[in-house]
Amino acid sequence: MKVFKNAQLRNEPMLKDILVEDGKIISINNSCSHTPYNVNTEVIDLNGKLTLEPYCDPHIHLDYVFTSSSFGENKTGTLFDGIASWSDSKSQLSIDEVKKRAKLGINEQILGGTQYIRTHVDVTDPNLTCLKALLEVKKEYASIVDMQIVAFPQEGMYSFKDGDKLVEEALLMGADVVGAIPHFEYTQELGNKSVKKAVQLAIKYDKMVDIHCDETDDEMSRFLEVLAYEGLSNGISHKITASHTCAMGSYNNAYTFKLFNLLKQSQLNFISCPTENIHLQGRFDSYPKRRGLTRVKELYDAGINVCFAQDSICDPWYPLGNGNLMYVLDAGIHICQLTSSEYCNNALDLISINGAKTMGIEKSYVLKVGNNANFIVLNATNDFDAIRNRADALMSVREGNLLFKRDILTNNFIH
Ligand code: FE2
Repeated sequence: MKVFKNAQLRNEPMLKDILVEDGKIISINNSCSHTPYNVNTEVIDLNGKLTLEPYCDPHIHLDYVFTSSSFGENKTGTLFDGIASWSDSKSQLSIDEVKKRAKLGINEQILGGTQYIRTHVDVTDPNLTCLKALLEVKKEYASIVDMQIVAFPQEGMYSFKDGDKLVEEALLMGADVVGAIPHFEYTQELGNKSVKKAVQLAIKYDKMVDIHCDETDDEMSRFLEVLAYEGLSNGISHKITASHTCAMGSYNNAYTFKLFNLLKQSQLNFISCPTENIHLQGRFDSYPKRRGLTRVKELYDAGINVCFAQDSICDPWYPLGNGNLMYVLDAGIHICQLTSSEYCNNALDLISINGAKTMGIEKSYVLKVGNNANFIVLNATNDFDAIRNRADALMSVREGNLLFKRDILTNNFIH
């Protein structure tokens, strides 16, 4: 038995004691210095620090991490040259090498406070090397991270030979989510076909869908409406995610008004990757230069589920990225102008519960009695200060055990 004393939960007026047995939360009560705990109960004092669910990164490419230098620098910084760089070099990969890099990436994410990850994995490879590697990593790391794998056809479902068949094979091998990249297909027709195929595969195998959708500044890239309609008409919108949707930042307002009527009905989930898309988009603009992000504030205000993610850790698409979602959130709220107190007080949702909703795990994710004792402790006492100070995660707890603990004064790890 363990008790984590004096936890400042989000939006709670009183400090709480979280009692844990066999990895589960068995009670959450108001803290009281006289609370009599059994002598065998281990007591860990959280000193009034902000305690919340671990971060969720619902969009990372773990097969790509730490390839930015070895695969040659993407000098133009465009999405298309990132894909070309990856495509030219990926045949060199081995399962062991991919696993090694993916584990380094996960370690960075965990040290930033993340415990839930959805990784896209490139399946446009007849050997499915990256998929095999990530399926093994998922199993080997199950005790420290919950992972979903997206069967992602990086070079197209129809623009790459047998891409659609490779996606289906990946689902049969254990991938959890169907991916697609319609804006990269050779024609609009093939893009539409890939979206419809992804939804049909999800229905056939009872999987979720997560599409790299309209990751371009091309205002004519309108695959989102196809995805939303396919989800709505097949009754599975809640299992569908539209990642990036950068083109929405370039759509005219009249079209967007009509689109939002469909989005509100469909209740799709949205993921924006602020650090990657501010880096990748706008590359064909002179000035004014577009920000290249989707309309996060408008989606949020419309009550549509939207979250932030770290797409890349040192890969041909984005040479930086360290898996720390607080940095991603910091960039996102600035780029999307979510900096008023109203937004800041709820901004942590964008890297926690909203990501969990996107992954379809919110019921088991929330910090409550009966759920696994998974939580992090930030170096802050309330949401606003956590955002303002870009607070570090001081501690990450998984089923009641410490994944790490950081010294508050030196910032060094002590566990
Ligand atoms: Fe991505």
